[in-house]
Amino acid sequence: MFSKLQWQSDRMLYDGLVFRLEQVRTGDWTGNEFFRFFKRKKIVDKYEEFFQRHPDFHPENIFELGIFDGGSVAFWFELFKPDKHIAIDLLDRKDSTYFENYVTSRGLKEKIKTFWKTDQSDKENLRRIALANFTEPLDLVIDDASHMYEPTRASFEVLFPMLRPGGLYVIEDWAWGHWPAYIAAEHPWSVLESPAKLITKLMDAAGTSISLISNLTITKGFVVAERGDEIIADATSFNIDDYIVRRQDIV
Ligand SMILES: C[S@@+](CC[C@H](N)C(=O)[O-])C[C@H]1O[C@@H](n2cnc3c(N)ncnc32)[C@H](O)[C@@H]1O
Repeated sequence: MFSKLQWQSDRMLYDGLVFRLEQVRTGDWTGNEFFRFFKRKKIVDKYEEFFQRHPDFHPENIFELGIFDGGSVAFWFELFKPDKHIAIDLLDRKDSTYFENYVTSRGLKEKIKTFWKTDQSDKENLRRIALANFTEPLDLVIDDASHMYEPTRASFEVLFPMLRPGGLYVIEDWAWGHWPAYIAAEHPWSVLESPAKLITKLMDAAGTSISLISNLTITKGFVVAERGDEIIADATSFNIDDYIVRRQDIV
């Protein structure tokens, strides 16, 4: 599918769908016949590179955090054509008309569901949504929501145990704490805590044992943790720290 994406200066096109590239937005846009899409070509190319290395990965159950305008929901859905794609977002809004038309006209009402006013740090609610909507373990989680440490960790601790062995957990834009523009004093995020500390914990857990995290891919735009076959007895109290052994002098 990646090879079928058509890129123009301010949009990505796929199978009759228009994705306006929010970060490089140019040109005159009127009406609302498009998704507002928060990914650049560079990161999509990196995802293509990653999934080309995993040609047998065909997720049927996808949980996505961070909907914004629904562009990434349509993007991932079109890429993988899963049985079920659930997405949540904190925003107090509803699906755009373009998104609604996409879902309805393609007969996807049973497959795609969005949950607005849903905080990724609300562990109980996330667990409830996942249990109510999936009958099988998850295959893929994509977290492109708050990009902050505590909420990202909260979702990870709920949803990572719900992945099947071999399932993938993606955390997008984890690395902003390393990007000069984002840590400059005038940037509103400069005083906030980035998810980088969680990624260090994932690395520590991956180094401790392959049964929790069997593979870890780290790149500037995203991290992918592959779930190992660890049996997590009580998923409701899963804490990544319990899976890390670290000599005290390692920081
Ligand atoms: C970068 S945008 C997502 C973009 C979308 N995935 C895409 O690629 O087009 C981040 C979204 O995360 C949502 N968000 C921020 N904090 C959140 C939280 N604590 N829980 C759930 N969603 C949150 C924001 O409302 C926003 O819509």
